[in-house]
Amino acid sequence: MHDTIENLRHDLVSRVAQVDNTHELEALRVESLGKKGAVSQLMRQLGGMTPDERKEFGPLLNGLKDDVGQAIEARQKELVKKELSERLEREALDVTLPGRTYADGSTHPISEVIDEVTAIFGSMGFAVAEGPHIEDDFHNFTALNIPPDHPARQEHDTFYFGVDDHGNRPVLRTHTSPVQIRTMTSQKPPIRIIAPGRTFRCDSDQTHTPMFHQVEGLVIEAGTHMGHLKWTLETFAKTFFEVDAVRMRFRASHFPFTEPSMEVDIGCRFEKNRIVIGEGDDWLEILGCGMVHPNVLEACGLDSNEVQGFAFGMGIDRLAMLKYGIPDLRAFFEGDVRWLKHYGFSAFHAPDLPGGLAP
Ligand code: PHE
Repeated sequence: MHDTIENLRHDLVSRVAQVDNTHELEALRVESLGKKGAVSQLMRQLGGMTPDERKEFGPLLNGLKDDVGQAIEARQKELVKKELSERLEREALDVTLPGRTYADGSTHPISEVIDEVTAIFGSMGFAVAEGPHIEDDFHNFTALNIPPDHPARQEHDTFYFGVDDHGNRPVLRTHTSPVQIRTMTSQKPPIRIIAPGRTFRCDSDQTHTPMFHQVEGLVIEAGTHMGHLKWTLETFAKTFFEVDAVRMRFRASHFPFTEPSMEVDIGCRFEKNRIVIGEGDDWLEILGCGMVHPNVLEACGLDSNEVQGFAFGMGIDRLAMLKYGIPDLRAFFEGDVRWLKHYGFSAFHAPDLPGGLAP
């Protein structure tokens, strides 16, 4: 028995020293000290011994159990330490490496242009306002001086919803102008806002899609006149296109909600796969504008003898086409990854005036 105990101690302690990972050490612990382990089996023999034998071997067996247990515990500590430092080495991060752009993601040109437009008007003191895509008749038409039988309603190619329980027929907003109404009925002048967002009309060709983007501008303040409007738009255009002068054409026009009204075109040339700004004999209409009609001010509870203002509505998609030479509007919304790879912008770039608009 003496030999058995000594051999087992020697065998187990030297095996513990050789084990080089915590998995194997755990297996060895079960094999020696577990219920059916070698040490436990030896200890079970105590039951069949005489009291004298038990007195002799009891302490020896307990000593064996303790020695093996301590050897395992000590080795466990060493192995845990070793495995942790190996893992730290394996998973080390070199934080001095430069960042890597995720190659497949990019900012859509429309998001880019919205950011650029917001940066420019933000620098002129305009805040950003928002409104819902599903509008009611009052905000989309009536308050904008377009009464129920007005022909302008037909010009808008409106998407109508069904008539609701209250007899109202909601629409997908046909322009961002309802945000003018929402702003004038919730804020007091002086007002200076832009409202970028989605708009909807039942129309589709090279320069029209059923969903498109506009940015509305609204300034309401006593003493505002057409000179302010023209300066604002010209300054915007030069800054946006990053040139000293842009060919702009102000044409007399008509909108029910402005008086007088103008439409503005930018000089450009359409090529097969490209659109070039600042050259050629083509014009692309990018915005409508004018002095806010007194009826609109009055519909919003403002006294048209006291405050005036101007408003404009610009096509964001068209600005993107012009600035980034994209000839067909429909491609904007096809979600073609190749197109996005070609025309998209780095997600790490945020346009601002001091830092530069486009990357
Ligand atoms: N809402 C007009 C449109 O969508 C644009 C516009 C806005 C014109 C503001 C004048 C003033 O065509």
